[in-house]
Amino acid sequence: MPDREPLGVIGAGWVGLVTAACFAELRHEVYCRDIVATKVEALKRGEVPIYEPGLAEMLERNQERLHFTTDMGDALSAAQLLFCCVDTPPTYSGDADLSRVEAVVEELGGSNDHALVMKSTVPVGTGRSIRRRQADLGYVSNPEFLKEGTAVSDFMHPDRVVVGTAEASSEFGDRVAALYQPLDAPIVRTDVASAEMIKLASNAFLATKISFINEIANVSEELGADVTEVARGMGLDERIGSQFLRAGIGYGGSCFPKDVSALKQLAGNSGYHFQLLTAVIEVNELQKRRTIGKLQKHLGSLVGKEIALLGVAFKPDTDDVREATSLVLAARLVSEGAHVRVYDPVATDRARELLKGVRICESALEALDGAHGAVLVTEWPEFRELDWKGEAKARMARPLLVDGRNFLDADLLRSAGFTYEGVGR
Ligand code: UDX
Repeated sequence: MPDREPLGVIGAGWVGLVTAACFAELRHEVYCRDIVATKVEALKRGEVPIYEPGLAEMLERNQERLHFTTDMGDALSAAQLLFCCVDTPPTYSGDADLSRVEAVVEELGGSNDHALVMKSTVPVGTGRSIRRRQADLGYVSNPEFLKEGTAVSDFMHPDRVVVGTAEASSEFGDRVAALYQPLDAPIVRTDVASAEMIKLASNAFLATKISFINEIANVSEELGADVTEVARGMGLDERIGSQFLRAGIGYGGSCFPKDVSALKQLAGNSGYHFQLLTAVIEVNELQKRRTIGKLQKHLGSLVGKEIALLGVAFKPDTDDVREATSLVLAARLVSEGAHVRVYDPVATDRARELLKGVRICESALEALDGAHGAVLVTEWPEFRELDWKGEAKARMARPLLVDGRNFLDADLLRSAGFTYEGVGR
């Protein structure tokens, strides 16, 4: 086995590109294959199709070691470890759609020189089922735990690396584990099903933490406590930890909604009703809708009211709008008869088609102009920099602000004459 072995990455989406760039940074030759020819051509020209801090620079820095191709043969002849980074979107039933993974398995066939290293999030049992059909092909489960916006640094500084193989002693498993040695993180060697479950359970647990603190926030509103203080006090308990205790208008994104629902379905399909996750999902849905109630509390009927949504992306530092709370809010407001305008520093292009009947603005001030109420949906730093006391307030028809992320200075806004509604405070 050479010191730095060449690697294949299948799928040049968000996970694939981050994986390819980071392994190239670790001085591996990387053969990255995608079926979309225009994307591959763009990548060869040095154009990066997604917005992820640090990624474009890392791809550029390592361009000599990165080879983009549409031909699986190129990856197969150059590398033995092939990282599967294709997406597994949710189906209508909430199960994961594995058709892209299946297509990759089909293409690789039964080669015993190669191992498929699964980074895509798949249901527990997928590895076993693939191995049953392609017994000669090596198989390693190596789930990703990357957060959008910090994916490059998450890859280079992981809390842990999970490597799942059917047999405890697996040459392919050893080789995958060795790739991560320079990162100095704990490596969890386990069986394939447990590795698959670690990924789903981690995301489901984090989503549970968010729904839990959101319910504490809702009760705090009734009882006069401040959830940001509660979370601070709780989070200092090491057993609880301070992360993912920010109350808000619910979680979104490409992973949590999908993975929580996939685990719930998976449990259900095996005959177990996962009650807790059912509640986690329901709390998240209701949390988005509570915002509408907060506007109605002050404005009465929303028919004909001008409402500004600040932020469209599901969180800051990304242009991703998958499962973004903004989309649910905009659609609900439109159906309540409100006139909705939105602004986001990077995400409106991606959201344009999804924001039916909504006016897209070029600046926050434009969105606030003449508004009867505004909702802060995404905590982009520029929303803190707005001149709330001055121009922002002057532009609004009525200074009503629902801060869906507890992001702004409530005292400052109130002293400036705003009606300020946070979440749980
Ligand atoms: C998540 C996981 O963190 C990552 O490990 C996994 O691989 C993919 O899914 P990501 O979807 O990029 O990453 O975003 P994350 O930063 O985890 O936030 C998810 C959602 O939860 C966002 O909508 C965010 O606004 C919300 N959130 C997060 C809260 O509402 N409160 C919190 O305290 C933290």
